[in-house]
Amino acid sequence: MKILGIETSCDETAAAVVEDGTVVHSNVISSQIPLHRKTGGVVPEVAAREHVLKIIPVIDEALFRAKTTIDEIDAIAVTQGPGLLSSLVIGVTAATTLAVAKKKPLIPVNHIAGHIYANWLGEDPDDPVRFPLIVLTVSGGHNELVMMKSHCDFIILGETLDDAAGEAFDKVARILGLGYPGGPQVSRAAEAGNALCFKLPRALSGDKNFDFSFSGLKTAVLNLVRNEHEKEGALSTEFIADVAASFEEAVCDVLTTKLLRAAEKHKVREVHLAGGVSANRRLRAMTKEKIAKMPPSSRNLTLRHSSDLSYCTDNAAMIAAAGYFQLKTHGSKEVAVLADPGLSMYHS
Ligand code: KG4
Ligand code: ZN
Repeated sequence: MKILGIETSCDETAAAVVEDGTVVHSNVISSQIPLHRKTGGVVPEVAAREHVLKIIPVIDEALFRAKTTIDEIDAIAVTQGPGLLSSLVIGVTAATTLAVAKKKPLIPVNHIAGHIYANWLGEDPDDPVRFPLIVLTVSGGHNELVMMKSHCDFIILGETLDDAAGEAFDKVARILGLGYPGGPQVSRAAEAGNALCFKLPRALSGDKNFDFSFSGLKTAVLNLVRNEHEKEGALSTEFIADVAASFEEAVCDVLTTKLLRAAEKHKVREVHLAGGVSANRRLRAMTKEKIAKMPPSSRNLTLRHSSDLSYCTDNAAMIAAAGYFQLKTHGSKEVAVLADPGLSMYHS
């Protein structure tokens, strides 16, 4: 089954054609990063206007690259939320119009469910994903620990009480005077730094707690930087690298500790990393290192994350994949597409 996926929840206009939730025939992303670099962040009105300009050409390009036509598409999946309403409405309007005009089923997809299903893209039939599993979803706007016992069954074990991990990366990048988007910039700066240089807080690290909080960590970085400004005037490259590395270490430590503690508690077979921050090299490496040090019964946990970095950040292939499994699991439903019921929509 071939699904056309459409994603416009924030600042990427994206369309993709995916077969059976795993085989990517095309994945077109028109990024607005250069536009938002000028303001250091996304201005919703600017993002929405850009989506209007790009949505039709991006859909056309996705069909063209997949060597197919809209008539050969079996269903249309679109991000219904969460996201910027003025951005979401452009994708939803395009998808609804196409679905009605071409009499195709329309599948409204939760954006985080999309990120989760990025780990099915390019799945090796000889090494299929095995349930139960726990996914750490780490994005700019969202940060959850999700357990899945089967397809499209999402149980939220924990979530952020304030900033998401990606948001913390973006804010720390601003504090350090690094560019936009912050995650990759902080990560690059951290490569030259000493992660043990500054001892930064690890919030909510209690045994039973699967929620996250990163605002205290961000404030700790802000205080370090203010003190350095008062003492030295300007920030040295070395100082920036050490703060970036210590910050990255603290975020990854909290994320991986909770992910693996949850994996042990629920005796799952796999752990997945998903969302923009799952592109982070230290997060991937630390998860692997910690799995190797787990008790023998948990050491054969399978770790999955996308090898293609464009599947970690916002894209439409993941929306088409989630749409496929949603359709297969729950069938086509008449849904108000902008009324996003949340990630746990199908958990009974
Ligand atoms: O999933 P995503 O594309 O959009 C949302 O749904 O929010 O995630 C974007 C977030 C941004 O905060 C960005 O700074 C972060 O992912 N990010 C990273 C890296 N690449 C992107 N954070 C840390 N390290 C990276 N390599
Ligand atoms: Zn996202």
